Amino acid sequence: MRLLLIGAPGAGKGTQAQRLAERFNITHISSGDLLRQHVREQTSIGQTIKAYVDAGDLVPDAVVMDMLRKPVVAAVESGGYVLDGFPRTVDQAKAAFEVASALGVAVQAAVHLDVPDDELIRRLLARGRGADDTEEVIAHRLHVYREMTIPLLDYYAGREWMFTVDGTQSPDEVEQDIEGRLRKLAAFDTSQGRGAGDPG
Ligand code: AP5
Ligand code: MG
Repeated sequence: MRLLLIGAPGAGKGTQAQRLAERFNITHISSGDLLRQHVREQTSIGQTIKAYVDAGDLVPDAVVMDMLRKPVVAAVESGGYVLDGFPRTVDQAKAAFEVASALGVAVQAAVHLDVPDDELIRRLLARGRGADDTEEVIAHRLHVYREMTIPLLDYYAGREWMFTVDGTQSPDEVEQDIEGRLRKLAAFDTSQGRGAGDPG
């Protein structure tokens, strides 16, 4: 299975990706976690991107694409992936589709976790992950989400393999909703005999 999780900062992408990875025996790949690991380990990528991550700005596409290629291919070879935080712009989605469809590893379903701003802010302040969970940077991350990622949702809108789940429910309820929708999608795909991932 090959899944995408799309949602604002604090929407629960990491929380649900981890659950789905266990549930379906696929690999959880978080662009943010990998980037933060580079920063922690002070790799050359880490040194290039630290300022972006700390400020809540998007890291340049080429860096993210290069970083993800190997883990995604490895994940596909061992059963599939749930990608958390990538793609997060229309450009990234188009570039990823080019690469992934050439390799036969294009996405099969995209889940949008919908949570209102006040709840996102509450969760992120409570978590306090590091430099990017301050009030000021959270506000900027939400701005970047509206400017750069909402257009991605618009771009995917109407595709039968993309659906929205109410992310304000408990983690268990969100997970059940996602699984229910994935089951319906699988039934639909079987009956229609078509795959997903085609960006049109
Ligand atoms: P990234 O790591 O992707 O961060 P984010 O999108 O800001 O999202 P978070 O990880 O903060 O939240 P989440 O949705 O995973 O929620 P979580 O499950 O943790 O990106 C960080 C940075 O990396 C970016 O700003 C950018 O610089 C860079 N980057 C990453 N990807 C990039 C890309 N593709 N291109 C360019 N740059 C990129 O939950 C949050 C909290 O809420 C937790 O405490 C959790 O316990 C709690 N919670 C979760 N679910 C629930 C629930 N249902 N009810 C109550 N609480 C809940
Ligand atoms: Mg996360």
